[in-house]
Amino acid sequence: MQFPFLRLRRLRRNENIRKMVRETELSPADFVYPLFVVHGSNVREEISSMPGVFHLSVDMLIKEAESALKLGIPSILLFGLPGKKDEIGSEAYSAEGAVQKAVKAVKKALPEIIVITDVCMCEYTSHGHCGVVKDGELLNDPTLELLAKTALSHAEAGADIVAPSDMMDGRVKAIREILDNNGFEDIPIMSYAAKYSSAFYGPFREAADSTPQFGDRKSYQMDPPNLREALREISLDIQEGADIVMVKPALAYLDVIREARRNFNHPLAAYNVSGEYSMVKAAAEKGWIDEKRVVTEILTGIKRAGADIVITYHAVDAAKWLISK
Ligand code: PBG
Repeated sequence: MQFPFLRLRRLRRNENIRKMVRETELSPADFVYPLFVVHGSNVREEISSMPGVFHLSVDMLIKEAESALKLGIPSILLFGLPGKKDEIGSEAYSAEGAVQKAVKAVKKALPEIIVITDVCMCEYTSHGHCGVVKDGELLNDPTLELLAKTALSHAEAGADIVAPSDMMDGRVKAIREILDNNGFEDIPIMSYAAKYSSAFYGPFREAADSTPQFGDRKSYQMDPPNLREALREISLDIQEGADIVMVKPALAYLDVIREARRNFNHPLAAYNVSGEYSMVKAAAEKGWIDEKRVVTEILTGIKRAGADIVITYHAVDAAKWLISK
């Protein structure tokens, strides 16, 4: 059938008919809300590169997590800022670290919220790289031990899911082993499986104070032009025991999300990263775009590409908009 008998506009004539044929529905249940925890109390300091995102002490973090939960957002992702950095990032796996303390307190106040912890060394090391550095090189195998210790300390604090974001080879296996050997066989691993070396992490590095002090992350994070390699990364992480796999960033990598969805049956997360967030906030501040519509369109696009879980700093705003819709 062809025009004039066929007219696709028939199913677009009003909101209710559009609703009936809508293919992708966004819900607060799709979101994971990332939060940055610092030592101290009563701290709620806006991160200048990320308007609307804050450095939070544990007490303030609980309030933020509670409002997310009330809006139907099931999960938060925690990043920690240490009191002191050193060569081997010891605070990453300290029971007294900001993340460990936050996990304990959040799970006590809000037992039902799913607390995911980012497992990485870059916020904790004085050189800002994601592991052990020797002669200007990031060493893979010695780093695995630190990552595993870090993941275990998060599980001991009560984390529901651990999420390694370092891109070392073999980290999922190392973490699965240490968790299982210590009675945490029920704690899932969400791996940052296809994580690219991206300029879109710019604002995050101010938020997490994790800018590498020399060089860059190109020897461990993926090269942006590569798609087939992403599928190999995801496949390896699945073989090593990842329960949820992630593509990061999201917007310049929607094709990677799509291919990951087509090739694997694991739950798939996509990270709508700091640069993607801050560009929208900056343009909205200038009055150049309609923030609510643009954010909804972006998050819907990430889901339409194939993501089941969308990690986004817009989570609370977007959930409010979805509820009031
Ligand atoms: C830690 C980590 C980073 C992000 C998440 N975990 C930064 C990086 O790899 O440089 C980026 C998150 C964002 O930009 O929102 N390795």
